[in-house]
Amino acid sequence: MRPVVAGDEPWFQSLAADPAVVAYVGDGRPWSPQKASRRFAQGLRATNSASAGGWWVILTPSGHATTTSRAGLVTAEKDRQGALEIGIWVDPRWWGRGLAKGALRELVNTLPRRLTLVVHVDRANTRSMRLLRTAGFQESSVLPQASTGPKLIRMEMHRR
Ligand SMILES: CC(C)(COP(=O)(O)OP(=O)(O)OC[C@H]1O[C@@H](n2cnc3c(N)ncnc32)[C@H](O)[C@@H]1OP(=O)(O)O)[C@@H](O)C(=O)NCCC(=O)NCCS
Repeated sequence: MRPVVAGDEPWFQSLAADPAVVAYVGDGRPWSPQKASRRFAQGLRATNSASAGGWWVILTPSGHATTTSRAGLVTAEKDRQGALEIGIWVDPRWWGRGLAKGALRELVNTLPRRLTLVVHVDRANTRSMRLLRTAGFQESSVLPQASTGPKLIRMEMHRR
């Protein structure tokens, strides 16, 4: 993994516009370039700040930091309770090759200890549920539901 840089924005826009990637994120609909840009700016700020969070690009197994080596994204941003909310998006061309699992392990190992990590996930997102359970996340609560869009639960990992 490597921290995001400003030049990753067009790639992030195309990832966020992919219906398969965002099917279980937010309202489940592809993001407009404007929405993706707004979120990317927040991610870049988190990455360049001194706090524990940030956004990282998951590199393809060959690992060279070129345009084609981007396989996915890991986000970690402080929520209102001080927990670190995690998101993981992998380009569908790279699904099922252990990239998310490896990235999550790397993230957990590099973050400061004594942090609570949180993921909001749709129970129907079987890939993600399996990924999180394997990594040691446990279900903590069901989030208030909107009438449309994903039905989210909160999964947590407490680091000591
Ligand atoms: C969820 C996601 C990040 C998984 O990425 P990935 O790189 O394909 O995941 P991995 O290859 O590391 O596999 C992780 C786990 O999912 C399992 N998995 C892979 N394909 C699967 C499938 N079709 N059905 C169910 N589980 C599957 C793997 O077996 C592995 O579990 P295991 O270690 O117990 O065997 C990816 O599918 C994605 O980006 N989805 C869209 C964005 C999203 O929904 N993110 C999660 C919300 S925060």
